[in-house]
Amino acid sequence: MNRTPLLAGNWKMHGTRVDASTLARGLVAKVGAVTGREVLVAPPFTALDVVADAIAGSRILLAAQNVHWESTGAFTGELSVAMLKEARCTHVIIGHSERRQYFGETDETVRKRTAAALAGGLTPIVCVGETLEQREANKTVAVVTTQVNGALAGLGDASIERLVVAYEPVWAIGTGRTATPAQAQEVHALIRDRLRALASGGVAEKVRILYGGSVKPDNIDTLMAQPDIDGALVGGASLDVDGFARIVNYEVPKQ
Ligand code: PGA
Repeated sequence: MNRTPLLAGNWKMHGTRVDASTLARGLVAKVGAVTGREVLVAPPFTALDVVADAIAGSRILLAAQNVHWESTGAFTGELSVAMLKEARCTHVIIGHSERRQYFGETDETVRKRTAAALAGGLTPIVCVGETLEQREANKTVAVVTTQVNGALAGLGDASIERLVVAYEPVWAIGTGRTATPAQAQEVHALIRDRLRALASGGVAEKVRILYGGSVKPDNIDTLMAQPDIDGALVGGASLDVDGFARIVNYEVPKQ
């Protein structure tokens, strides 16, 4: 199955609007016309409009880092699908482990956000992944299975086909400790199997599953060589134009 690779930069809570605009312009110059793969950036909410201006006319896509499931209402600090679309987002990251760890995000809220994004026409990038404690207790399979089932519960084939899953082992995020390609592939294959159980008719083969957790220019090539790794969700290394451009321009080593 030919899945278009997706290289996504999660800028987290980094950068002013000026910083974001500079970074986006740098990326447009380096990878704005790249073909055969998709490139996406997820700046902080406050920088969405300046980044949208900077990437206009390029092939770089725009994502937000969260979305609420209601369309309007008294939800201080949250943003709706319509607001993000107005800000020119096409994608949204949902259920990042930092939101699960620090802001009370649960499988149920991830499910609601995912369903709302899909219903409103945004592509969700749904994050799952185990903590170090869970991995060491041999709970990786159980945790990731529960998270995928929870996030995608009730979605039909047409919805599942449109979403992106990101496997981000918590112990690898921002630690410099990347999962080995084999460790990542093992969980990606598990996620693809889950998708086969949740959707029918070859839908699972079409879903991109990204790896995230200390992806760097020097490890992207071997990660992308794995059969079920269809891209990367990159934090720290996405804040550097040359580094992220190298990640976008990954080359799969010859077998
Ligand atoms: P990292 O973050 O690349 O800095 O480890 C990845 C992520 O949290 O999406």
